[in-house]
Amino acid sequence: MAKQTQATWGGRFEAGPAALMLRFSESASLDRRLAPYDVACSKAHSEMLAHVGLLTRKECKAIHDGLDAILADIASGRFHWEERLEDVHMNIEHALTSKVPAAAKLHTARSRNDQVATDMRLFLRDACAALSAKIKAAQAAVLSVASDNRNVLIPGYTHLQRAQPVFAAHHLLAWMEMLQRDRDRLAEVAQKANECPLGSGAVAGTTLPIDREFAAKLLGFVDSRGNPRVTQNSMDAVADRDPFIEFASACALFGVHGSRIAEDLILWSSAEFRFIALPDAFCTGSSLMPQKKNPDSCELIRGKSARLQGNLHALLTLVKGLPLAYNRDLQEDKPPLFDSFDQSSLCAEVLGATIAGMTFNAGPCADAVSDPALLATDLADYLVSRGVPFREAHHAVGAAVALAERRKCRITELATADMVRINRGFGADWASVFDLGRAVEMRKGTGMPGTAQLARQLARWAKALA
Ligand code: ARG
Repeated sequence: MAKQTQATWGGRFEAGPAALMLRFSESASLDRRLAPYDVACSKAHSEMLAHVGLLTRKECKAIHDGLDAILADIASGRFHWEERLEDVHMNIEHALTSKVPAAAKLHTARSRNDQVATDMRLFLRDACAALSAKIKAAQAAVLSVASDNRNVLIPGYTHLQRAQPVFAAHHLLAWMEMLQRDRDRLAEVAQKANECPLGSGAVAGTTLPIDREFAAKLLGFVDSRGNPRVTQNSMDAVADRDPFIEFASACALFGVHGSRIAEDLILWSSAEFRFIALPDAFCTGSSLMPQKKNPDSCELIRGKSARLQGNLHALLTLVKGLPLAYNRDLQEDKPPLFDSFDQSSLCAEVLGATIAGMTFNAGPCADAVSDPALLATDLADYLVSRGVPFREAHHAVGAAVALAERRKCRITELATADMVRINRGFGADWASVFDLGRAVEMRKGTGMPGTAQLARQLARWAKALA
């Protein structure tokens, strides 16, 4: 009876697994999405077996044709997944063997341990590229809003208190930098995962004369010169989950960036700020309060960042304390990894769509940035340019701000005589500093929010995303 219940490893068993154990142990419901990678892995492996003479050309061809047919069945939903066959690997191998006798040789010099490690790295390579493309699309939305609103000024905030004027586009381009680092990080994760574990076997390789480099090359595990890249230690190769942890970490950090951007959008769209309006299509109403328009897409992005951090933590905890090499615990790497990919992809899409539909409210932005106190630092710089040490200049402007506060007027309404009494460095032109045009004209240096810099940065990003 056991022999029927478990075709691949049933040989040494008297009894098959309990129904409860099958339900507990199966992963095909989840890892079936690895099917295209599992088939690619098996095709490369069988090709390699033929190359070294462990399969005939004919057998190899039959295996390839059978695998292609199975993948087509899976894609069309015709494939019959069996719980008792545990995972994607055994489901596919079993279906293949029932049609292609030569498939009984496919698992030669291979274990599910190096197979799953290889499949997952193939998945990861695509996941990094796909997620990066989605983040790039979100960047394109940010860039388009930034260039359409390049004249809008808002206060830049520190401690969530109005600090100094900046172009709203400069703030948006800060998001661009965050998102770009996420994309660069994903490229690094993919590059580090670019080593083929296939041929590591269960733990100790094989006694058969396989050619690991040959299979690695077929699967695209190659360096920039096209030379194969293979893992260097069979035990590490089947135990290592670093690439997936690094991917989850990149997703968690992207989630944090999304959350911070979402928080900016939530604040800006509130009645307290009114800097922007969010698109109706990405907001929801209240079931009770008819007037409400809630920024739910942003709140969900903020909320999902917690989930992405949780996935990273789950993976770290999964491997902590695991003895080398493979342990079945490692099957549990899939739910957090897949979830990080799926949810990050969704967040990137929703973030881009929400930003694409946002509009700036010119009036409230202009009001918020109109307080001359936002240029107090420029006034201190004015004194510095007239030879006053910065600490003294800072103190003098502080005294002027306090005087205006006592007189319940704006700093620009103080008399020049008052200013000179505070510090002899003030000249008759001191009030010329309080001009937003001047303020953004003078912030010329790289990375600063000046007009010329903004134009340069917008052009740089347009080129980078083209
Ligand atoms: N489904 C397993 C996993 O995802 C595949 C490897 C199984 N290996 C084993 N020795 N049982 O980890």
